Amino acid sequence: MENTLNKRYDIHKTFEYNKEKGPFERISDKNKRIKKILWNYWIMADFFWYKTNLPIWVAAGPLYNEKYMKWAAKDGFEVITWKTFRSIHRLAHASDWKYIWHNIVFIPTTKINEKSIWNKVVWSLDYKWKIENMSITNSFWMPSDTIPEWLPSIVRLEQYAKEKQKQIITSVVWTPKENWTIHDLALDYAFLARIAEFTWSKIIELNLSCPNVSGAEWSIFKDIENSLIIVTNTRKFLHNSNTKLLVKMWYTYKSYYKDFMDALSPYIDWIVAINTIPMEIIDKKWKQALAWWKNSWTCGKAILDLAVNAVANLKEAKIDLWEKAKHIKIIWCWWVMDAEWFMRHIDAWAEFVMCATAALFNPELPLEIAKYINKNKIKKII
Ligand SMILES: Cc1cc2nc3c(=O)[nH]c(=O)nc-3n(C[C@H](O)[C@H](O)[C@H](O)COP(=O)(O)O)c2cc1C
Repeated sequence: MENTLNKRYDIHKTFEYNKEKGPFERISDKNKRIKKILWNYWIMADFFWYKTNLPIWVAAGPLYNEKYMKWAAKDGFEVITWKTFRSIHRLAHASDWKYIWHNIVFIPTTKINEKSIWNKVVWSLDYKWKIENMSITNSFWMPSDTIPEWLPSIVRLEQYAKEKQKQIITSVVWTPKENWTIHDLALDYAFLARIAEFTWSKIIELNLSCPNVSGAEWSIFKDIENSLIIVTNTRKFLHNSNTKLLVKMWYTYKSYYKDFMDALSPYIDWIVAINTIPMEIIDKKWKQALAWWKNSWTCGKAILDLAVNAVANLKEAKIDLWEKAKHIKIIWCWWVMDAEWFMRHIDAWAEFVMCATAALFNPELPLEIAKYINKNKIKKII
């Protein structure tokens, strides 16, 4: 399957343009069709208090606002995550620049391993991509609307989700300011989580690894003591002891995951991993591809080996700490673009599978997976 035109996100336009004008097609509601296909065959999973027959969900990132959240629900994704919110307004890279840089480009799928992280990858605008073999790099700078803008949207969407039986995750992140201490930072997370809870959000993701931003902002998960301060403060701020807390982490080693889980497991419910991997993306003339940063963040098939490795590390860490960490589900959050790949994750013990790129570049995915389950007569509980 080869795609040259995408109707969900126009890579030649700015993020703000896409947010306002996209998606660029009428989206029909596929839920009834999917339900019918999954009548006899299914992959059943518990999502806290909710049971689903199709455990493929959208991660934080591609769903920028209410409109985008609703189209993902119509596509058949059962759990959908808001793009990460901040306590301040922030424009995406390049939104107000005269020269339009790209925020997403397709890259060739060169295999990335531990040694080649941060290496150079040459991209080209004409690069034709195939769904089963694609990788992208993106750099947005984690833009956010202001609280008075996003807050009513969450309330409205929670209502919509109730009617349509969809589950929502609200993702939040801190924003650094000059001379901030870890306690100010933790308060920013706690404040955002409390506001999200106030809108009836029951599942909140603390983004502790936000690669497309600078310095300390992206690497907060790398400090276990600080991560613990953030999580315990957030728990203190939340009113409802049933509110679920997810943390998003990056690629790292088993011993680190183990120490992290050991310290944080009493306060968190699930871990989402692994986000994206940094590479230097340049064009044929050695010009940097994406706005602002020399390095940008890669996902897709290129990071396959690293992702498999990281998830195995997480799984082993959980097994080593079984008594303490058995309640922590590990959510695979990287590259699922087609039904076969989805099944590979499920067969390899995945507790849940999330995708980001597919929600933009293969939104037929839930329908394709449902058909695959039906065709292969799969009945499975995970
Ligand atoms: C367009 C785009 C925007 C993203 N924005 C965010 C974000 O705001 N917050 C976040 O935690 N992760 C963000 N991510 C990372 C994804 O949630 C996910 O961890 C990563 O892309 C790997 O999944 P994938 O291979 O299915 O894309 C973004 C990814 C993409 C492709």
